[in-house]
Amino acid sequence: MNVLGIETSCDETSAAVVSDGRVVLSNVIHTQVDLHREFGGVVPEVASRCHVEQVIPVIRRALADARCTLRDIDAIATTYGPGLATSLIVGVSTARGLAASLGRPLILVNHLEAHIYSPFLAEGVPAILDACPFVALIVSGGHTMLIRVRGVGEYELLGETADDAAGEAFDKGAKILGLGFPGGPAIDKASESGNCHALTFPRGISRRGDDGGADKSMVTFSYSGLKTALLYHVRANPVEQHTKALADLAASYQEAIVDSLLENVARVLRRGERLVVGGGVSLNRRLRFRLQEWSVGVGVTLMLAPSEFCADNAAMVAGLAAHENGGLQGMITDSLDVEPGLRLRGV
Ligand code: KG4
Ligand code: ZN
Repeated sequence: MNVLGIETSCDETSAAVVSDGRVVLSNVIHTQVDLHREFGGVVPEVASRCHVEQVIPVIRRALADARCTLRDIDAIATTYGPGLATSLIVGVSTARGLAASLGRPLILVNHLEAHIYSPFLAEGVPAILDACPFVALIVSGGHTMLIRVRGVGEYELLGETADDAAGEAFDKGAKILGLGFPGGPAIDKASESGNCHALTFPRGISRRGDDGGADKSMVTFSYSGLKTALLYHVRANPVEQHTKALADLAASYQEAIVDSLLENVARVLRRGERLVVGGGVSLNRRLRFRLQEWSVGVGVTLMLAPSEFCADNAAMVAGLAAHENGGLQGMITDSLDVEPGLRLRGV
């Protein structure tokens, strides 16, 4: 079964053709980073206008790269939330039009579930249902979540952020450091020659219930204190671009984020459980290194999304829509509704 996936939830226009939920025949991503850079963040109106311009050329390229035509497509899948309303609507209405004209099913996919699926697009890994139950760490610009996955659609929330997402912490930290947009890759790069132990920043982690509340099973991430600590440090100690001091600051700030993620993962993971990691922040080289080092040390099976499927992409959307064991996943519908605040099912 060939699924054409479309992804327009934020600032990447992407289309992909995936066969049987596992074999990625093409995955075209048009990033809008250059358009949003001058504003220091994603501007929704600019994003949606660009999706409108790009979505058809990107789909054409995805079909050409996969050496197929629309006639070879068995279903159309698209993200319907969470994300920017005016961006989501471009993907949903395009997919709806294609599905109706081809007489094929339209499958609406939850963007967070697609990120959970992305590590299963790697070669030589088990199918998602064979890996269940596992713990998923989703780290992106909008979400920082730990989820126990018992099956596709069966989720237990183990932890989430109390304020900023890890990606936002990178983006805001980079702004404070004058490193530009998007912040994650900029801090990743600036940290290369830095000493991650040069400064100690707060690790915003806690167990719900540490404050006397009832639910001790959930863990919480928090990055607002970290960001404020960086801001105060930079105000008191102005730092020049391209200096060792800047590299040390970036590396120390990055280490605080990575530590918080690892610490909470270690708290929730049960003996023998596999860890699956996806989302744009999972591109971070220090995070990938520390996760690999830790998982080998404690004997945890780690599944990191391949780098091409970490940030927003349509392959994860098409893959989830038709993974090999489950047939079509997602909502088969004629609806044109988007859900900008969509949560995971049952969470
Ligand atoms: O998953 P994604 O592409 O979009 C959302 O669903 O939000 O994630 C985007 C986030 C941004 O905050 C970006 O700064 C971050 O991923 N990111 C990184 C790196 N590359 C992208 N964060 C840390 N290190 C990176 N190398
Ligand atoms: Zn995403």
